[in-house]
Amino acid sequence: MSGRGSNLQALLDAAADPAFPAEIALVISNISGAYALERAAKAGVPTEIIPHKQYASRKEFDAAVDRALRAAGVEIVCLAGFMRLLTTGFVEGWNGRMLNIHPSLLPSFKGLHTHERALEAGVKLHGCTVHLVTPELDDGPIVVQAAVPVLAGDDADALAARVLEQEHRAYPLALRLLVEGKVAVDGARATVDAQGAGSLISPLP
Ligand code: GRF
Repeated sequence: MSGRGSNLQALLDAAADPAFPAEIALVISNISGAYALERAAKAGVPTEIIPHKQYASRKEFDAAVDRALRAAGVEIVCLAGFMRLLTTGFVEGWNGRMLNIHPSLLPSFKGLHTHERALEAGVKLHGCTVHLVTPELDDGPIVVQAAVPVLAGDDADALAARVLEQEHRAYPLALRLLVEGKVAVDGARATVDAQGAGSLISPLP
């Protein structure tokens, strides 16, 4: 986490249900004042601050993150609003076991300022994607997507809020599917084997 952590909150809330198949073992932030840390503490989840500025290189920072994750017995990593690029070595070490959420319908609008760019492009559907992380930015196999309409009069904030609501549904679903072994990766694609709640949140199939 680097910031406010509303997606973290969605995961914490989901994991609070005894029926949810995963537990949140550790929350790591590279920013000491991140509100995400407070959210974790309130939920009784251990936190660790690993300030990237204290490391001479990305490689050393990533190695510290990796050590913390493995020491906590973490099996799956969820990136949420984590604003640092990760080294290929780190990403490969968590191959198939690291998720990210991106506020667009990938592969459209990789990178930053997705809502502004969606408005500029005049797309009529926008949304979010939870995907497995590969070394290339915003590019891994897609696990879950949710679409929202772009409405007349939307500004970037209004559109972001509509997408964020879906992010909070998509991320816990994607984590659950991955933990339950329902996500099969074949090259650049993931297929999801799930009855009912599949990989498409909105509109429902
Ligand atoms: C979300 O929109 C996420 O998709 C993007 O950054 C935002 C983080 O929000 N990468 P939060 O910190 O989870 O509230």
